[in-house]
Amino acid sequence: MSETGPVEPDISAQNERAISPARGLSTKLLLITIACVLLVEVLIFLPSVANFRLRWLDDRLHTAAAMSTLLMEVEPGSLPQGVQDDVLRAIGVKAIAMRDGEASRLLASTRMPPDVDEHVDLANTGQFSAIGSAIRTLFSEQREFLRVFGPVGESNRGYEIVMSDRPLRNAMLTYARNVAGISLLITLITAGLVYALIDRMMVRPIRGMTRSMLRFAEAPDDPARIIRPAPREDEIGVAELELSRMQERLQKVLGEQKHLADLGLAVSKINHDMRNILASAQLLSDRLLQVRDPAVQAFAPKLLRALDRAVAYSEGVLAYGKTQEPPPSRRRVRLHHLVEEVHELLGVPPASDIEFINTIDPGFEIDADSEQLFRVLSNLCRNAVQAMMSDKESSVVRRLTLSAEREGSVSRVLIEDTGPGLPQKARENLFTAFRGSARSGGTGLGLAVAHELVRAHGGSLELVESVGGRTVFAVTIPDQPIKLEDARRIVRRPA
Ligand SMILES: Nc1ncnc2c1ncn2[C@@H]1O[C@H](COP(=O)(O)OP(=O)(O)OP(=O)(O)O)[C@@H](O)[C@H]1O
Ligand SMILES: [Mg+2]
Repeated sequence: MSETGPVEPDISAQNERAISPARGLSTKLLLITIACVLLVEVLIFLPSVANFRLRWLDDRLHTAAAMSTLLMEVEPGSLPQGVQDDVLRAIGVKAIAMRDGEASRLLASTRMPPDVDEHVDLANTGQFSAIGSAIRTLFSEQREFLRVFGPVGESNRGYEIVMSDRPLRNAMLTYARNVAGISLLITLITAGLVYALIDRMMVRPIRGMTRSMLRFAEAPDDPARIIRPAPREDEIGVAELELSRMQERLQKVLGEQKHLADLGLAVSKINHDMRNILASAQLLSDRLLQVRDPAVQAFAPKLLRALDRAVAYSEGVLAYGKTQEPPPSRRRVRLHHLVEEVHELLGVPPASDIEFINTIDPGFEIDADSEQLFRVLSNLCRNAVQAMMSDKESSVVRRLTLSAEREGSVSRVLIEDTGPGLPQKARENLFTAFRGSARSGGTGLGLAVAHELVRAHGGSLELVESVGGRTVFAVTIPDQPIKLEDARRIVRRPA
């Protein structure tokens, strides 16, 4: 706890390294905001440039219409070509005509009127075709000629002009440049504002949470590193609150576990000394057997048995406390043979009329650490024998059967007995060390150790069934995967 102050700079430096600015949320947010605002600007720009084009052409048509009033004063065809050219050049068109209902009259034209590339009806232009035409004008490098027509003023008269699109394009480019400049400014201001707001409201608290998690992971026992949730009711507020609660809970659990570990250490020390004291008592008590006194003869064996149990208990606890089981060293093991050894070492009393049946095929091979598998099977068999012996009814069948089967690369060994089944307490604490024993003198370690050993083989130990008269445990162990290199060597080796 005292180290909070000095280590702070290191941790924040590490956080900086953990999340590089280029990949941070802020940078992503800024780029996304700029992209979105630009997209909106483009979407707004297209209709506005199309409108600009129509308005510009309409202006030009109006100018031509104003000039037409003068042209109509003169006799058709009497205006000299030079004057016509001057007039047309002044308003920037190649020809002017007037329509009155169905009748059409050419008012002025250059000597060689150009071919028209596009007809623009100002009265009937749809939004999409206007956008399409505007894009074409903006991006076409070649000069095109437009025939523009539409009504002017209140009268029934319509006018039409033929003109080059270049002046129009120049005007549109200037417009586009102006709009682009303003858009860029708006984009930067909007993106900056959105970025600053979201960064303040969301990214910073998220960054704070990330930093808190990293700091907490460094020293989970330091209460100063628990996040202080901000008083806000949105999702971030809830996340901060939950994070702080989780950190508090974790800290509490860690504290408890540390106490338990300390306690375990103390117990194992006491247990160690106790085992030595009990062993001395055992030695001394052995001599009591030689005393002829009938009273001593009556209680001495009981005393010895009690001492034996106490020593075994102490040793079991000590062994469990110390054990860090080594990883299994696996070989192919003849299971039938191994089970026979288990049977011999079980030392089933002949008077107990317990049948031991080994149905495993003598050729059955299992890929396992033979020493560890021996411990697993002898624990399971000893439990079964103890359970069946505890059954006081004399007429019941007492049979322990071991069988094995293989499916693909997985071996399964079944240990089946005809005992009374697992008591409730043992079922509820199945495979939990010290808790599952429901037998006087039992440590409650056998099943937990067996479970751990089988799990180390990548397999599983299950209680398949347990009813009065039939209890089945199954040990499932998959073959260890062959390394690719080894497999290749085996394949390459000539037969
Ligand atoms: N085949 C079985 N039939 C009935 N009860 C069983 C069987 N196997 C285990 N049990 C019950 O499960 C309990 C836990 O077994 P476990 O082997 O873990 O501990 P234990 O036998 O009590 O002690 P030890 O550590 O000496 O083996 C036993 O006390 C027993 O009550
Ligand atoms: Mg046992």
